[in-house]
Amino acid sequence: MTTDTTGTVARDGDPRPGGPADSPFIRACRRRPVPHTPVWFMRQAGRSLPEYREIRASVPMLESCRRPELVTEITLQPVRRHGVDAAILFSDIVVPVAAAGVDLDIVPGTGPVVAEPIRTAADVERIRRISRDDVSYVDEAVRQLVVELGDTPLIGFAGAPFTLASYLVEGGPSRTHAKTKALMYGDPELWHALCARLAEVTLAFLRVQIEAGVSAVQLFDSWAGALSEADYRRFVLPHSTAVLSGLADAGVPRIHFGVGTAELLGAMGEAGADVVGVDWRTPLDVATGRIGADKAVQGNLDPCVLLAPWPVVEAEVRRILKQGRAAPGHVFNLGHGVLPETDPDVLTRVVALVHELSSRRADQG
Ligand code: CP3
Repeated sequence: MTTDTTGTVARDGDPRPGGPADSPFIRACRRRPVPHTPVWFMRQAGRSLPEYREIRASVPMLESCRRPELVTEITLQPVRRHGVDAAILFSDIVVPVAAAGVDLDIVPGTGPVVAEPIRTAADVERIRRISRDDVSYVDEAVRQLVVELGDTPLIGFAGAPFTLASYLVEGGPSRTHAKTKALMYGDPELWHALCARLAEVTLAFLRVQIEAGVSAVQLFDSWAGALSEADYRRFVLPHSTAVLSGLADAGVPRIHFGVGTAELLGAMGEAGADVVGVDWRTPLDVATGRIGADKAVQGNLDPCVLLAPWPVVEAEVRRILKQGRAAPGHVFNLGHGVLPETDPDVLTRVVALVHELSSRRADQG
């Protein structure tokens, strides 16, 4: 039996009763019985919260990710406000890439923008391997958060090689991923070298978070849905597998998420996930049929539904809870991130409703 850095949680033995490893969220990821269906929201820490907008008004995005006291405060905000079952570290998928020496910024309203996009083997070599010292602010923030959060689990995360490569090759967000695919089809050797390096950076970044005490990790391959299953298997799966399988012995559940991935759900599970994230296009029972009964599922509520009148939201929550019962483990979440225009009170009500509708009385077993 090993203990984590806080000395309180056995990672590979029986979890401390009531501790984060025994929380409804981690139990659902591990397909164990839960007292209620756990719920958290992708992008729960962000612009939907006035207290977030206040902090960020005077601090640029990347700088806020590098200040442990701000990371801690922003990560805790949605836990305090909504009573969600898990916190997710406040950071961004490009943080480790910037730490690896790539000159980039996160532009408000646009997203990540890269000064010199990656086009050649020499460009790939410019992406340095990273160690804990390169992201010491993340290490510090996670350690602080684990103490502050107590029994609430903290989710660490990183971007998957394909989604990171898309930003690096395009130089910024892209609708078609045309330059990325041109490189992938036109120079497979360079493509694989780029993704292999990104997988190394991602794996190292996730290991820092796990050693600092996160209870689970999520690998975001947000844009993988741009690919056919055949191309996904050939050009992406080996690299995402290198990351997720590289964490098989780390003792924390691994979640793998993308958007528009109806055709890829099975393959994304094969990459080495314990939980597969599902967008709003595929009902959870259908998704489970594709993923297999040995993995939990997470997601499916369309973020836009939260902008609709409450009866619409309630009907959707009920539908997703019902269809989620087809899976061996269910984590309630959105199909993608919270939209900035979302009324935070609706999120709070959704948490309460999920808990109320799913709570299992002791006599129900
Ligand atoms: O979920 C959370 O609460 C944790 C925080 C988080 C952020 N980025 C903070 C952020 C997470 C998990 C991410 C991951 C991320 N970043 C992804 C994968 C998830 C997804 O949404 O698909 C991607 C593709 C990125 C890249 C990125 N960074 C985009 C597309 C944007 C939005 C640009 C914009 O302004 O609309 C960012 C910036 C960003 N990352 C913000 C936040 C809260 C907004 C910055 C701001 O407040 O100005």
